[in-house]
Amino acid sequence: MKYAVLGAGNMGGALIRGMISAGIARADDIAISSSTPSSSKKSALSLGVQSCASNTEAVAGANMIFLCVKPAQALGVVSSLAGELDGKLLVSIVAGIRSEDLHRSTLGSARILRAMPNTAVRIRKGVTAIAPHRSSFIEDFKLVRQVFSSVGSVLEVTEESLDIVTAVSGSGPAFALLMLESLAQGGIDGGLDSDAATIFAAGAMAAAAALVTETGEAPSVLRKQITSPSGTTAAGLGVLESSNFPSIVREAVRAARDRSVELSKTL
Ligand SMILES: NC(=O)c1ccc[n+]([C@@H]2O[C@H](COP(=O)([O-])OP(=O)(O)OC[C@H]3O[C@@H](n4cnc5c(N)ncnc54)[C@H](OP(=O)(O)O)[C@@H]3O)[C@@H](O)[C@H]2O)c1
Repeated sequence: MKYAVLGAGNMGGALIRGMISAGIARADDIAISSSTPSSSKKSALSLGVQSCASNTEAVAGANMIFLCVKPAQALGVVSSLAGELDGKLLVSIVAGIRSEDLHRSTLGSARILRAMPNTAVRIRKGVTAIAPHRSSFIEDFKLVRQVFSSVGSVLEVTEESLDIVTAVSGSGPAFALLMLESLAQGGIDGGLDSDAATIFAAGAMAAAAALVTETGEAPSVLRKQITSPSGTTAAGLGVLESSNFPSIVREAVRAARDRSVELSKTL
């Protein structure tokens, strides 16, 4: 399999790093392009993959193409390649851009799937939602699932649910990082040095996530197990609950989902 990654920025780069470290692809089998030949060269050097001077050159020898540009560029990039995508598999990780719009932009020539990974694919702990489009076959889905399974777990979803998946899973790590930063800052306020505070805060977040995924118990049940009445945890949770922390987080998820819907309508 030969891969092209159009837009080797944060996510494209994270995906490439994960694929290479998982052994699903060799660096020689991945060609990348960016906004300019010099930027492509720079990214290719740091990722150890093949640099291409244009998107056309990148897709020429590839069977599977990952579209990893920003939403505003996605349809323009795909339209400019319409003649070159005949019979190829196009996997878009772009938030908010519908498969049908991509399909139209390729003039119906490419087989399309949408995937919504998160940034942890870089360390092979990602979660990726995959939504097949009517232009793709079950074999395409299996190939794409194999790639994303090598860098984390995969769930098949309908395209309709991708906006909310984007909010919870694609943007979710940034929300969790803000919580982590705040937790660490609380430690610094209490006298810890910055490194120790970050280690404790990251450990607390990792512990919470691992408890949920490894025990299969509901987060609320696990939370109650570590909250003794009138204890230290109860004192802290009381502040979070009385400040509407749970509804604020839900509001953030709604805003991210609405932005994804908006992107699909305005582009
Ligand atoms: N960040 C996340 O956690 C996340 C999660 C899931 C999905 N996504 C999706 O992933 C996509 C990329 O996000 P990102 O955070 O990786 O953005 P990013 O770091 O800005 O990367 C975008 C890349 O696209 C390149 N590019 C711009 N115009 C191009 C063109 N005409 N042809 C080829 N490449 C071009 C840029 O090149 P230059 O460097 O030369 O400008 C850059 O390498 C977005 O659509 C986003 O919705 C992101």
